[in-house]
Amino acid sequence: MTKEKSKPVRIAIFASGRGSNAQKIIDHFRGNEEVRVALIVSNKSEAGVLDIARKETIPGLVLNKETFFQGNAYLPLLREKGIDLIVLAGFLWKVPPSLIKAYPHRMVNIHPALLPKFGGKGLYGARVHEAVLEAKEKESGITIHYVDEVYDHGQIIVQARCPVSSNDNPDSLAEKIHLLEYTWYPKTIEKLLQNIVKRS
Ligand code: GRF
Repeated sequence: MTKEKSKPVRIAIFASGRGSNAQKIIDHFRGNEEVRVALIVSNKSEAGVLDIARKETIPGLVLNKETFFQGNAYLPLLREKGIDLIVLAGFLWKVPPSLIKAYPHRMVNIHPALLPKFGGKGLYGARVHEAVLEAKEKESGITIHYVDEVYDHGQIIVQARCPVSSNDNPDSLAEKIHLLEYTWYPKTIEKLLQNIVKRS
């Protein structure tokens, strides 16, 4: 008897910016019949990540602010699209608690520093790296974590480190951090998805 083909696990990527992490995640799962990047969501209609969505022919969605902050107004759409895991990749809006609750241990974020240091409201993008350099840290890195109601606070899944040298500036540090992100985010998501497949 032939084994019935299981349905692919479906990911939604939420991003506000250029979406280089989103691109790496899409590339990582390309050709994988068990995983589909099924939706790209942004709060900005001009975000680069939506160009990626168009190029990759992945459905894109621009969020309406009022609707989003109502709580789980987008939940029916996410359900309709069969989204199993929400991946935040540079998404700058705070996700409402009711949406987080609808995806328990199924919503992850990546932060460009070693949490709990250098996280929280207002600490994103270059500001994180500036803060790390100002504090004269000897190392920085990335943190992949589950999302909870507090900015950059949920349970840590993985951290990876890189040295900070006295010659570093926010750009050079960002470059090092991006390399870590590209290496770790796709494979960490893949690992999480294995558990999702096993559980359901
Ligand atoms: C990444 O550095 C990520 O850690 C942070 O936002 C940035 C997004 O960059 N949360 P990109 O849009 O994926 O290039």
